[in-house]
Amino acid sequence: MRINKLLLTLALSTPALLPHLSYAGEVEVLHWWTSGGEAKAVQPLKFSLEKQGHTWKDFAVAGGGGETAMTVLKTRAVSGNPPSAAQIKGHDIQEWGSLGFLTNLDDVAAAGDWDAIVPKIVTDIMKFNGEYVAVPVNIHRVNWLWANPAVLKKAGVSVPTTLDEFFVVAEKIKSAGYLPLSNGVGSWQDATMFETIALSVLGTEGYTKAFVELDLEMLASDKMVEALVKFKKLRDYMDSDAPERQWYKATSMVANGEAAMQIMGDWAKGEFIALGKVPGKDFICAPAPGTAEQFTYNIDSFAFFDLKDSGDVDAQKALAAAILDKNFQETFNLKKGSLPARTDLDMSKFDQCSLDSLASFKMAERSGDLVPSVSQGMATTSYVQGAIFDVVTDFFNDPNADAKKTAKKLAKAVKAAI
Ligand code: GAL
Repeated sequence: MRINKLLLTLALSTPALLPHLSYAGEVEVLHWWTSGGEAKAVQPLKFSLEKQGHTWKDFAVAGGGGETAMTVLKTRAVSGNPPSAAQIKGHDIQEWGSLGFLTNLDDVAAAGDWDAIVPKIVTDIMKFNGEYVAVPVNIHRVNWLWANPAVLKKAGVSVPTTLDEFFVVAEKIKSAGYLPLSNGVGSWQDATMFETIALSVLGTEGYTKAFVELDLEMLASDKMVEALVKFKKLRDYMDSDAPERQWYKATSMVANGEAAMQIMGDWAKGEFIALGKVPGKDFICAPAPGTAEQFTYNIDSFAFFDLKDSGDVDAQKALAAAILDKNFQETFNLKKGSLPARTDLDMSKFDQCSLDSLASFKMAERSGDLVPSVSQGMATTSYVQGAIFDVVTDFFNDPNADAKKTAKKLAKAVKAAI
């Protein structure tokens, strides 16, 4: 009794011993989730913050892959006015961390037990110098093939499982008068298809050697030439009037039956769902040809900037905690097409595509076939990624480009960017 009284008097006279009071503040959040499915997925996060009395200032910069968003972010950060949090992923987290822009989230992480509920492959990416500076939102699988079953049926073909089958199927769809492959435009989308074909041709070991270890011999190898030739062959099965097409327009072409297939990460599923389409009935999700055993991962995350205002810091911490909240993880990932970042969720509301994705994530984790995506900044630094994008896109868009020379060019460009 007497000790309790003493503690109370001590606490009241020593503010540091009082429980931390939370202040209302503003969170400004930079992201590039502007397509139908993406915008719907992120909305509950805003509501969650507002429910806690904070203000959400949306800083959405259109452009899948986030290239434009990153350019805008750099300008804001350099002028000393960064947002509270920004969609920053993979190696970029280390780059921002080493420049001293990011804040330590270890207290929020400890309270939420992140080390226990999030896979290590994910938490490792979120830490800079061993401290949490970013929060994961999800795990996307990149190596998917999306298909319209009605179009496949009309062409008399089924979903291809190998690259050779893919080209046979694509040829038949073309002869039946349908567009075999829909594509969006831009270097990250070219790179998405390229890395998927390269994974199929090189296998896990070759892919890792080339794009993670940056082995120059592998980058210039005959196998890489083969990957480039097969990648370029996709051109024969695409339409040419796509100069401004966004990835989600390409997805809606498959959803509407204007095209048979798309090679894209499972944010495409978010788009099918937003269009009211049902997996297994209106669209098919299958591993990209020749990559059933592998799982190319893309982990979305928000990195948190160092702020001064204490209300804004509180709002920022509330946001960090809300991202890994069980309810948000469920609603967000159901709409986004990705797997939850935490492993302890009840998956009963998730569809077969998500369950397949989870099963292949676990299998690939065991077999060593989890590979980081090049196109999504998971495999290597933004400098090397930029060099790969340039070579791959130039090659894809130049009808006269030579695959052998391009493989050598790829190795040279990577060497210069390391
Ligand atoms: C990726 C992002 C995904 C998806 C895609 C298209 O970079 O990681 O979540 O939204 O861009 O915008």
